Amino acid sequence: MYGGSIGRAKGHSPFGRTLGRPQGDGQGPESQPAWKQTAVWIIYFSAALILVRFYGAADTLCRKDIEREYAVGILDGKKGLILGVANNKSIAWGVAQAAKREGASLAFNFLGEQMEKRVRPLAESLNANIIAPMNVSEEASIDAFFTQVKEQWGELDFIVHSIAYANKDALQNRFMTTTREDFHLALDVSAYSFIACAQRAAPMMKPGGSMITMTYLGAERAIPGYNVMGVAKAALEASTRYLAQDLGKDGIRVNSVSAGPIRTLAASAVGDFRKLMEKSARGSMLGRNVSQDEVGNTCVYLLSDLASGVSGELHYVDAGFHVGAGDPGIPG
Ligand SMILES: NC(=O)c1ccc[n+]([C@@H]2O[C@H](COP(=O)([O-])OP(=O)(O)OC[C@H]3O[C@@H](n4cnc5c(N)ncnc54)[C@H](O)[C@@H]3O)[C@@H](O)[C@H]2O)c1
Repeated sequence: MYGGSIGRAKGHSPFGRTLGRPQGDGQGPESQPAWKQTAVWIIYFSAALILVRFYGAADTLCRKDIEREYAVGILDGKKGLILGVANNKSIAWGVAQAAKREGASLAFNFLGEQMEKRVRPLAESLNANIIAPMNVSEEASIDAFFTQVKEQWGELDFIVHSIAYANKDALQNRFMTTTREDFHLALDVSAYSFIACAQRAAPMMKPGGSMITMTYLGAERAIPGYNVMGVAKAALEASTRYLAQDLGKDGIRVNSVSAGPIRTLAASAVGDFRKLMEKSARGSMLGRNVSQDEVGNTCVYLLSDLASGVSGELHYVDAGFHVGAGDPGIPG
């Protein structure tokens, strides 16, 4: 029954529809006072609101479930070593954070008690499974570290080698004054150590394993102040190619990442590092330097199965500096 003044007639909805009970002559129990009509309306309206909100919340939960299901990190389920965190400025720390974000389980080394104080809290903040000492100058120390990794994990998916050292004098003085001792030290810690770690890591890796090391453009060009470290990086880059050749037979990939200058503990030893950073920013394609996070993000790609066809590669993360003509000088 439709009609009457819309929404005001007893028993009618504001849209002209009868609510709940059939309409009578206004005398029977079906006849409702106005306040009851209003109350019924409020109840209907509230119920509709609750239903809409409930549906919305259920929908959001469903979507979140679906997102969670598909948001798999590119290193999910992988176990890897992060070698070379000194503090939160270290390039290795940028890699560690990115690797953790992508789902990896991590193990860290530290060099001596002084470093442990800084490294342990950082590693613990990423729920590291192993945090143990390793001095790459000592065979026994390397063995002890890898034995612990083998005992605790048994297998390994990746290693990040981010270790280098040279006597400060050798980086401040003229290159031709480099001593035999300085030469040996720089090459031993900065280049041979990658081979030493690869020897112990490879037997724990299945096909799909990945190793990366950090290098710098000073390996291929004479960069003022980089001196013997440039020679060590050239040896490191060549070692990467030979390791890639050897370990490729086992399905293990080996790559090096050539980062642009980043202010870190090791970098502070390089002669006139501030000037080097300014020149690098000016001469790069992007007109700036790179961050440890940018290096970290590139590293996790190389460590992941997304890079399954990449080995023996030298990958630059230097905002394009290496393809340019160098520092164009101070503008203006
Ligand atoms: N910072 C830069 O501008 C830059 C650019 C390109 C490449 N790299 C390379 O990145 C890597 C990491 O350096 P960083 O800049 O993050 O500096 P960093 O000082 O944070 O890291 C160097 C690490 O090497 C470790 N180390 C040195 N001697 C060791 C030894 N005997 N045993 C074990 N560990 C030892 C130190 O403990 C430290 O953790 C190095 O290979 C460096 O040459 C740095």
